[in-house]
Amino acid sequence: MTVTTFDWSAVAPAWDAHRAQAESTTSAVTTAVLDALALEPGQDVLELGAGTGDFAVDLAGRVAPGGRVLASDIAPGMVALLARAADGVDNLGAAEIDAAAIGRADAEFDAVVFRMGLMFVPEPVQALRECCRVLRDGGRLAVAVWAGPEHNPWLSSIGMAAMVHGVVVGGPPTGPGGLFSLADPDRLQSIAETAGFEQVEVRSVATTARFVSTDEHFATVSALAGPLAVALGSASTEQVEKVRQTAAELAEPHRTDEGLVLPGRALLLTARAAARPAS
Ligand SMILES: C[S@@+](CC[C@H](N)C(=O)[O-])C[C@H]1O[C@@H](n2cnc3c(N)ncnc32)[C@H](O)[C@@H]1O
Repeated sequence: MTVTTFDWSAVAPAWDAHRAQAESTTSAVTTAVLDALALEPGQDVLELGAGTGDFAVDLAGRVAPGGRVLASDIAPGMVALLARAADGVDNLGAAEIDAAAIGRADAEFDAVVFRMGLMFVPEPVQALRECCRVLRDGGRLAVAVWAGPEHNPWLSSIGMAAMVHGVVVGGPPTGPGGLFSLADPDRLQSIAETAGFEQVEVRSVATTARFVSTDEHFATVSALAGPLAVALGSASTEQVEKVRQTAAELAEPHRTDEGLVLPGRALLLTARAAARPAS
């Protein structure tokens, strides 16, 4: 089956505008990734699907002096944001890279990071094989993906509202390349092992998405949510309003004295590249 991949360039301006919200929603994941990688000055890091580059700037600070970070993304619009982020950071570079065909030398990096992107790659095993190839022996991998829709009402409430009102977003979110396509921890573990990694571990990380109101929740998430954002962009005003109302009803149980506080859950895959046989 051929899966059409979505070009996230379409939502790069929204990611630029809402970068603080995006970083805050994934902050627990970021901490867990950093703990797992235990980066040191002098190390070389590849970040795939790096989006705005905010995380890459943080990574670059951790490997200085002597180390460098290559922040990459498949979407040219995101690469433009990465180039801007890299401007003025000596040890940070930006490149257009497809995770399924990395196009860099074997054993070039000490660590590979992919935060909230591997699930969008229709061939995740191929992407992880590529990650393994570009890692030095024993190099570390940290990949974070979203757990299932039932654990992520901050995302699924809007996707479900869109579906109810006939806003069609493409393939099923659990199908290849879909938002929840890697939500099964056993499968995630198995694809990393198939790709040649050792010491593979998958653990869940609780996240929190905070919004002032249901309107802010809808406006922000619907703008950031790639394929859904584009689908809503071509829906009628009446249809969008219906989606907004249903999403607000679904989010309402999460209203607190401090605004809307929606739980989420990510899966963190960590592993090491196996030593290559001596040639
Ligand atoms: C949800 S955004 C996450 C961005 C960033 N990693 C973060 O955590 O804020 C997913 C990103 O993955 C990128 N992406 C999707 N498929 C990709 C692929 N095959 N190779 C590299 N990046 C990809 C998209 O272009 C997009 O920037």
